[in-house]
Amino acid sequence: MAQPATERPAQAAEDWTIPQDWEAYTPQDHAMWDRLFARQAAMLPERAVKEFMDGLDVLRLSKSGIPDFAELSDRLMKLTGWQVVAVPGLVPDRIFFEHLANRRFVAGRFIRTPEQLDYLQEPDVFHDVFGHVPLLAHPAFADYMQAYGEGGLRADGLGAIDRLARLYWYTVEFGLIRQGQDLKLYGAGILSSYGESVFALDDPSPNRIGFNLKRLMRTHYRIDDYQQTYFVIDSFDDLLRQTVEMDFAPLYEELQRESDLGTAEIIPQDIIFNRGTQAYARSKTGA
Ligand code: PHE
Ligand code: FE
Repeated sequence: MAQPATERPAQAAEDWTIPQDWEAYTPQDHAMWDRLFARQAAMLPERAVKEFMDGLDVLRLSKSGIPDFAELSDRLMKLTGWQVVAVPGLVPDRIFFEHLANRRFVAGRFIRTPEQLDYLQEPDVFHDVFGHVPLLAHPAFADYMQAYGEGGLRADGLGAIDRLARLYWYTVEFGLIRQGQDLKLYGAGILSSYGESVFALDDPSPNRIGFNLKRLMRTHYRIDDYQQTYFVIDSFDDLLRQTVEMDFAPLYEELQRESDLGTAEIIPQDIIFNRGTQAYARSKTGA
C-alpha cells in the first residue's frame, strides 16, 4: 500500500524502482519463502477464492525459493500484460498510482526474518508477491488494479486520496468474496497472513457485510491488528461494475457531507453476513 512520502533512496531510479538483485538472496532467504509458502498453501485451498489458487498455479509460484521478478513478469505479461518491479519499501502515492496505471505492480524485495514470521510493518516480498500477484493473472482483477491506479491519480487532483485508499484497503488488501454459499478470501493482506486467513473467515468477532461503495468510503480501517469489519463482494465482475464504470467525483462530493464510521460500526442499511461480537478486539484493549 502507498504511504507517506519519504525521501527517495539514492540507489532508486526516478520512478523509485531498484533491481531485484535475485542473486543476492541467501539460502536462508529462500528457505523463509518456502516456509511461509508451505504454511499458506496447506490452508488456503478451501479458503481462498478459486481465481487466486489458479493464479498461484499458472504463475508457477509453488516453485521453491523467492520468485525471480523477471521470470514472473514474463509469465504475467503474456497472461494480462502486467509486470512486477522491485522498490525499496513504501513509495509515495503518486508513484504508486503511476505504476499501477501502467500495469506495473511494485513489490518489496526483502523477506522477513524468523522473528517477524507473523507480523511486520512494511510489506515484504512474501506479502507483495504471494498475496498480490496471483490475482493479477485474472483479467477482471488485472483491469481493476489498473483502473485503481488511474483513479488514484484522479483522486489526488480532487483531494480524495484518503477516501480511495479505503477502497484499496477493504478490497485489494482485506476483501472477501461470495462463492456459491460460502465466503472466500481474495485480499492480499489476509492471504499472506496465517492468523488472519483463519480469523477473517471463521472467527465470530469481525463484522462481515455486503460491499457498498459509499458506505465503505466512510469507514475507517485498522493498520495495527486484524480488521473489525470485512466487506464482501459478489464477484469480480460486480466489483468492476461498481468502481471502474462509476465516476467517483460526485461521490467524493457527497461524502464531504457524511460522517465517518468507526472500524466496528454497523448501520441500518448494511447487508449483514455476520454481525461481529468484536470479542477479539475487546480482548486486545483489555476492556
Ligand atoms: N472510476 C473511478 C473514478 O472515477 C476510478 C476507479 C476505478 C477507482 C477502479 C477504483 C477502482 O475515479
Ligand atoms: Fe499489500
